[in-house]
Amino acid sequence: MRISVIGCGYLGAVHAAAMAQLGHDVVGVDVDPAKVDALSHARAPFFEPGLPELLREAADTGRLRFTTDMGEIAGAQVHFICVGTPQKRGEFGADLAYVDAAFDGVMAHLGPDGVVVGKSTVPVGTAERLAQRLTDAGSTATLVWNPEFLREGFAVQDTLHPDRLVYGVPAGEAGERAKAALDEVYATPLSEGTPLVVTDYATAQLVKVAANSFLATKISFINAMAELCEATGADVTSLADAIGHDARIGRRFLNAGLGFGGGCLPKDIRAFMARAGELGVDQALSFLREVDSINMRRRVRMVDLAREVCDGSIVGRRVAVLGASFKPDSDDVRDSPALSVAAQMQLQGARVVVTDPQAIDNARAKWPDLSFAETAEEAATDADVVLLATEWTEYRELNPEKLATVVRSRNIVDGRNVLDPATWRAAGWTYRALGRP
Ligand SMILES: NC(=O)c1ccc[n+]([C@@H]2O[C@H](COP(=O)([O-])OP(=O)(O)OC[C@H]3O[C@@H](n4cnc5c(N)ncnc54)[C@H](O)[C@@H]3O)[C@@H](O)[C@H]2O)c1
Repeated sequence: MRISVIGCGYLGAVHAAAMAQLGHDVVGVDVDPAKVDALSHARAPFFEPGLPELLREAADTGRLRFTTDMGEIAGAQVHFICVGTPQKRGEFGADLAYVDAAFDGVMAHLGPDGVVVGKSTVPVGTAERLAQRLTDAGSTATLVWNPEFLREGFAVQDTLHPDRLVYGVPAGEAGERAKAALDEVYATPLSEGTPLVVTDYATAQLVKVAANSFLATKISFINAMAELCEATGADVTSLADAIGHDARIGRRFLNAGLGFGGGCLPKDIRAFMARAGELGVDQALSFLREVDSINMRRRVRMVDLAREVCDGSIVGRRVAVLGASFKPDSDDVRDSPALSVAAQMQLQGARVVVTDPQAIDNARAKWPDLSFAETAEEAATDADVVLLATEWTEYRELNPEKLATVVRSRNIVDGRNVLDPATWRAAGWTYRALGRP
């Protein structure tokens, strides 16, 4: 099947390559010429495990190309909209300018049997509005909402083998035609037994933000428990293990620490609250405001812990921050808790050096005033305190004896509860963590 993918960022680049790998003929379009150039040479424009290999394999099939020219989507039957929906400046709501621009571009080249597939995360009501635009223009093409659930760091696997597929389709024959087209696109994962939920537009759009809200709530729940643990001398990691044994609760997403960040969870829960307000049901989501505040408080608490181990002041102290990406196995620094902590400490007078295995370039572009080092050892050299802010495997496996030889003072704050306190304390370190004695 001939497919176009509009927007080739973390979602779209992986989607385009995966669709070619599944046997389709794919053109990816992006407004960023540097991204298109990299992708056209089968180079990943960002760090995502497995993407370089997938791009090379897909390029070798001759079924994958990238362009900045929207005209090249003409002739494709299915068009995926994968552009960003960032938080509006100074507001909670989502900025739909990119979605609208991409949709305009697609409409200009859409055939009568065309299917437009929205994958971006949008406020409920967006699909209905875009479908109406097709109707108003007299188009017989159909819109489907097919939210994406991939996780950065696992994006290739999640796209080739999704844990579920959701189609939001219009009623009637148009919906059936659109479903048949998407069934053909996803023939391979469907044949592997991937669960499929076919529903209406509103539900499909809500599924995505509901899922992200649930995950954010679970993380903030355990972080709220961490605050209680800090007030009582309890250990949130044991608490999480114990409640996680209850199958109704489960242990996943119960890792207390510096909280969530990235290009999805924070802006999605805020956009969801903003949309609920517009719909007159803001009370239904007022708990998300608390979820957001608990999450942001953890960043402040991390700075406070660093100050405590530095005898009450970080002014002039050298601070090593291990991690810049919002999570391991990604170079994405959007709303990164690690960088937020680093920047707060720098503003408060500390001399901060940040390191990360993959995200230094992105971090430097966003926070040019911070200093950066290539390795944990380099960052920690002469440090008064080391902060573990993103749980990359190489930081989990740091040797406390070895690191002790480069720092000025053996102080570590484990922002992700991934180090063994006993081992670090035995090596002479003052070990502090969020939610642990
Ligand atoms: N990143 C994820 O893990 C993830 C997971 C699920 C859903 N989503 C959702 O997917 C959407 C995209 O997210 P992302 O992380 O890939 O964002 P991104 O910023 O990495 O990518 C968006 C891309 O769209 C391009 N673009 C913008 N306007 C365009 C236009 N008019 N025509 C062509 N290209 C255009 C940009 O240049 C950029 O490359 C968002 O709505 C996001 O919430 C993301």
